[in-house]
Amino acid sequence: MNTQKASFLQDKIIGNLFFESSTRTHCSFQAAIQRAGGYNMNVQTQYSSMNKGESPEDTVKTMEQYCDGLIIRHPDIQFVHKCAEYSNVPIINAGNGNGEHPTQALLDLFTIKQSHMIDTSLKIAFTGDLKNSRTCHSLIRLLDRIHDDYLFYFISPHELRLGHAFLASLRNKYVCGTTLEEHMTELDILYMTRLQKERITDMTANIENVKITNELLNRGKDTMILMHPLPRNDEISVCCDTNKRSKYFDQMKYGVYVRMAIMEYMMNKKLKK
Ligand code: CP
Repeated sequence: MNTQKASFLQDKIIGNLFFESSTRTHCSFQAAIQRAGGYNMNVQTQYSSMNKGESPEDTVKTMEQYCDGLIIRHPDIQFVHKCAEYSNVPIINAGNGNGEHPTQALLDLFTIKQSHMIDTSLKIAFTGDLKNSRTCHSLIRLLDRIHDDYLFYFISPHELRLGHAFLASLRNKYVCGTTLEEHMTELDILYMTRLQKERITDMTANIENVKITNELLNRGKDTMILMHPLPRNDEISVCCDTNKRSKYFDQMKYGVYVRMAIMEYMMNKKLKK
């Protein structure tokens, strides 16, 4: 990876509190902190005093005493917002339950901008577990905010579709469906997600109709890009990894740059308070 070292986090300690599993978000934030000259303090929740009955709230209040900023992922949608109300240090939402994943949305937008003009009439499909995918919620809202001439395709099983209130809040046009094949040749961007098994109680839902193979991918436009926040299960065949349309490894790489930029903004904002 060719990233120049910056110094805006010099002498700063950033705390990582992941109360839910993560590989990309946790590690890319750690890489971003180190590349910006700062120090990481990681709470290993499985070895912390939460094992002695300490609450997540007290764990956050403890880390606030040691750190200049906190990065928090928690399965409860409200938790990170409550922390932001009482915290004296800036907090970044690294994923709150099936709510939002705002830093992923920014790195996704950065990825899209590498191949497409974002102020044009793009046709963008979101597939998989749209009900529970916080990455989709955040990216759809972000795209809907920056432009009003997109066409969204929301492809998911009936029980995993986006809610009525979410759909009603959009200003761009959208179509809802259950199969991907019929739209494949129209798309500029295909954003896939996995079945969020950790959030689904009714496991009758499946995403068999929204699996992608190289054969299906090659039916897309030459300029179409395939994105996925990862981790994946089996909704994208590994054969697609070397397809020129596949951008999910680029997304991971851009995550470091974008999270560096987010933390620079965060620290500047805090200093101006
Ligand atoms: N994209 C993403 O949030 O991945 P992790 O769950 O591995 O952090």
